[in-house]
Parts: sequence; C-alpha cells; structure tokens
Amino acid sequence: MRIAVIGDIHGNMEALKVAYEVAQKSGAEKIFHLGDLGGYAPFVNEVVDFLIENNIPGVQGNYDEAVAFNKEHCGCKYEDDFQAEMAHLSFEWTKKNVNEKAREYMKSLPFRVDFEVESKKISIFHATPTKNNLYWYEQRQDKFFLLMAKKAGADVMIYGHTHIPYFKQLNGKYFINAGSVGKPKDGDPRTCVCIIDILRDTVKVEFIRKEYDIKKVVDSIIERGLPTYFAIKLMKAK
Ligand SMILES: [Fe+2]
Repeated sequence: MRIAVIGDIHGNMEALKVAYEVAQKSGAEKIFHLGDLGGYAPFVNEVVDFLIENNIPGVQGNYDEAVAFNKEHCGCKYEDDFQAEMAHLSFEWTKKNVNEKAREYMKSLPFRVDFEVESKKISIFHATPTKNNLYWYEQRQDKFFLLMAKKAGADVMIYGHTHIPYFKQLNGKYFINAGSVGKPKDGDPRTCVCIIDILRDTVKVEFIRKEYDIKKVVDSIIERGLPTYFAIKLMKAK
C-alpha cells in the first residue's frame, strides 16, 4: 500500500496546493496530514477548508491544540528571546484570525491515527506517541527511538513537528519524519511530500521536494501583518 503524508503546513496554502498535486500524482491510495495547520503564514482558514474539501484526514499538532483551545503559548521551542517574541506575535495573529470552522476542525482532530497494513501496525501522530510538542530529531539515541516504538505499540511510526525529514530503521521498526510542507527547516525551501510504500517485507520511503510560488506567500506574510522575520525564515528554510 502506498500512502502520502503531508506534514506541518503552517498556513502555507501555495505549498499545500503543490504538495497535494505531488501526493495525488504519486498514486498514493491515501493522503494524511500531520497537523500544525496555522502559524507563521496567513492562510490557516484556507488550509483547513482545503483539507476538508479534499477529504484529507490527519492528526492534531501542538499549534492546532493551542489555537483551538485559546492557550497562552503554542508549545514551541525557542532559541533566543527574539525568536520567542516573533513566535508569540505569530501565535497571537493566528488566534485572532482563525475562523470558527477552522477552530472547530482543529479541536476535532485526533491525537493519533492507527491502522494495519500487511500485518504491520502503523501509527501516525504529530511529534511523539505521548506528547505533541517533543522534538524527535534523527540524532536522538537509539534507545529513545525504541522507547517511542514501545509507547506507540507500532511497527511503522509517521510524525513531523521538527520540520526536518528523515527515515530510520531499527530492530524491525520504521521511523519516518515526514518533514514540513509549508515551513521546512532543513535548508531546502521547496515543499516536502513523504511517499511511503508499506510492503509485506519492508517499508520504502521517498521525500519529494517541489518548488511552489514562495514569493506569493512571502508577500502575503508581509501584507497581512505577520512578522517579516517569518518571510525570511521561509526563504532560507531555517
Ligand atoms: Fe510545526
């Protein structure tokens, strides 16, 4: 079975349209999103409409949870005070501009989605099986990966949150960080779609990168009153 996963869209409608096209062309039987639908770019309501219209199921990210329940903090990590200040502006902007339909949709998203393919248990969640704002980087120790597999009770784990894609196999378990559609942080500003083939004996993963109209999103970030800082970050993929 082939599935396509689109992670961390973060209000980037232009990237989402291209990512969806890539996912469809891949011949995937199902497409899933990984949550974090708003923040940093302005099209949070359009992103939610698109996911509903195209019947794309997914999970709740930390950003969705924080926006939907009007929390004080988005649950993100900052490297310095300036980054924290910028992130707070984006979070407040998103809470102010999200419509009721999008808020309700975010509220309704499940923490995880589980199913079975080819006798393998597949689990999809935003960041880790127990916490939606923990950064699960590839550099973490093997014992962390195995602990997460135990907590998930799954053979194939699919998640995002760090915005940096990777695929790792360990002790018969498959760990897939699908990267980010709308706000990559791996130095490649193109959108990222993760194509996963779940086969009887193995799991194959491909990350497809594709250019989109980044200029349109950069202009919208500035026009709609989000910090220019996020337009620069988007172009640098940092
Ligand atoms: Fe995110």
